[in-house]
Amino acid sequence: MTRAFHTFSLRTRLVWGPGVLAELGKETARLGQRAMLILSKTAAQKGLSEQIQANLESGGLTYTLMVATGEPTLTSLAQGLSLAREFGAQVVVAAGGGSVMDLGKAVAGLYHEPGAVLDYFYGKPISKKGIPLVTVPTVFGSGAEVTPNAVLSDQDKQVKQSIRHPDFAAATTMIDPLLSLDLPASITAFAGLDGLCQAIEALTSRGANPLTDVLAFDAAVRFAQALPGAVANGHDLAARESLAIASTMGGIALAAARLGAVHGLAHPIGIRYHQPHGKVCAVLLPVIMRYNLPAAQEKYAQLYRRLNSSATTAGSDCDQALALIEFVETILRQLGIPLHLRELGLPPDELESVIAEGMPSGSMQANPRPVVPGELLQHLTQYW
Ligand SMILES: [Fe+2]
Repeated sequence: MTRAFHTFSLRTRLVWGPGVLAELGKETARLGQRAMLILSKTAAQKGLSEQIQANLESGGLTYTLMVATGEPTLTSLAQGLSLAREFGAQVVVAAGGGSVMDLGKAVAGLYHEPGAVLDYFYGKPISKKGIPLVTVPTVFGSGAEVTPNAVLSDQDKQVKQSIRHPDFAAATTMIDPLLSLDLPASITAFAGLDGLCQAIEALTSRGANPLTDVLAFDAAVRFAQALPGAVANGHDLAARESLAIASTMGGIALAAARLGAVHGLAHPIGIRYHQPHGKVCAVLLPVIMRYNLPAAQEKYAQLYRRLNSSATTAGSDCDQALALIEFVETILRQLGIPLHLRELGLPPDELESVIAEGMPSGSMQANPRPVVPGELLQHLTQYW
């Protein structure tokens, strides 16, 4: 992927701070009066459902509710679309983790598109602007609150990929760190590690530029510094606030700069072996960082110096880049993440087909070191 120039657009109004959910009704009413509300099962169980519905009512809105479970599929998208259309929704509100926000993007973005969702999943161009979307992240890391792509799965064919359109980006996101307090440690860890991985991949991707670098560096530092504390203590509001803004920073950076081979491989591995996205990304991250070392050494060293001020003058870029990879591995160990690909349930004789399936993805094409399938296979085999 060669880019002679860069573009950067942020279509989302960002509204954030502890307690900002109280403004949801007012913010949503700016966009429409009839809302399709999509909630994750976890968000619904936390009692958030009542809080959100009361806020929408106080804004004078009427709404219909869908509770979504698991990662979004073409089936759940078709169900969401028919519910939204039957209700005559003017705006979609999606509250939950990346999966629910991605489902919300696809429902809002395809609202006026005729025909089967399958066609759009496999590349039919989107020609009509959908209805506006409000995202309410309750888990921080994916950046889905601001990104313009919806990751979906075709369960029949076992294909997981994005539908992407600039108009899919949320009109407004309400970022309230209070919503992520007391989440189970594993959910906090997987989401935050996805965020750390995305920040590092956006920082080193071929589409990286000075504007995305500012966001990606800061996001990576925040994830690395705040995540262990947030996982250890569900009440640590300062850590949650840092993760919340890091997630949005990372999402803005990756939307403009794209990602890398971790995300190129994560989708086929995730759907084949039924592993959570954040865990797959975490296991792959140090392995792919070592693969990318020849092309990304300088950025890795810069990030290491930002994380460790005493390293400003000590050691070469190569030493500091390796020290960053070891630092990432230390965080993974601390959070109980395995360091071997076999622990994702990936048989060694399927590595080749996983790489082949990931090769066409935009993430793979944005990887800093051009991906040669045979070289990547040899590299991954060492870490299997
Ligand atoms: Fe991700």
